[in-house]
Amino acid sequence: MTEGRVALITGAAQGIGFAIARRLSAAGVHTVITDVNAKVSSSFEELRQSYPENNGFAAQMDVTKKAEIDKVVSDVVDRYGHIDILINNAGILPQALLLETTEEMWDLTMNVNVKSVFLCSQAVLPHMIRQKSGVIVNTASQAGKFAEPGIPAYSTSKAAVIRLTQAMAHEMVQHNIRVNCVCPGATDTALLGSVFSDRSVVLGVTADEMRQDIVSQVPMGRLAVPDDIAKVVAFLASDDSAYMTAQAINVTGGRVWY
Ligand SMILES: NC(=O)c1ccc[n+]([C@@H]2O[C@H](COP(=O)([O-])OP(=O)(O)OC[C@H]3O[C@@H](n4cnc5c(N)ncnc54)[C@H](O)[C@@H]3O)[C@@H](O)[C@H]2O)c1
Repeated sequence: MTEGRVALITGAAQGIGFAIARRLSAAGVHTVITDVNAKVSSSFEELRQSYPENNGFAAQMDVTKKAEIDKVVSDVVDRYGHIDILINNAGILPQALLLETTEEMWDLTMNVNVKSVFLCSQAVLPHMIRQKSGVIVNTASQAGKFAEPGIPAYSTSKAAVIRLTQAMAHEMVQHNIRVNCVCPGATDTALLGSVFSDRSVVLGVTADEMRQDIVSQVPMGRLAVPDDIAKVVAFLASDDSAYMTAQAINVTGGRVWY
């Protein structure tokens, strides 16, 4: 149902973003994968080996830089004539208690996690409005639904992503554009590795204790794997979710139900 569509995915060199690229490729979507990390090119080559019919490309793009975003979006539209799916997935998770959070950490977290959603969506939406169709899926977090010690900037940024999702959804519904977000729980990626190593130091526990504590809070008793999240994103990007917009869907193994 999504065959032949074109998707732009941010933060897709690895982790959840790359798993989303795999799922969308499997559904016949041409995926333009972007990341600030130059590794995005080799990630795309890996993707092409599994999905040779994927006619997308890789672009190094920093989601905090409007000029870079505008250039990639214009390249996509020049090449395909349309842009159907935007996945705002790039994110960072700095670890620090509130009083140790520097102004630089705060600004960087807000820029990478929230302002990026605003900038990328603002670049893509005029094309979707012209097409009278489009889908945006944002990667928020369970941390946007409740707060925990050690990640005040991150929790605030992800709560903002949920509200921005709803604001965009309500403005765009008249243009046949749907906007939803996923709220993943603890997912086994490099980002979570930094939670175990760095947040354990912030909270004064060992990395193993940190991991056990996180897993013990998940009713399903395990961490998510990136594909657990990607499957739900692929559903939200497809016509199977045609009657859904403005939603923040938990993918947390039962950890969050609100
Ligand atoms: N892993 C988890 O437990 C978890 C839980 C909830 C939400 N999330 C969210 O999922 C998303 C993906 O995270 P992940 O776990 O796959 O982490 P990850 O670190 O494996 O991947 C994040 C990617 O974003 C890229 N990125 C960082 N800053 C960027 C920038 N300025 N411009 C462009 N790309 C940038 C990184 O290079 C990296 O490839 C993030 O938004 C994260 O907040 C993750």
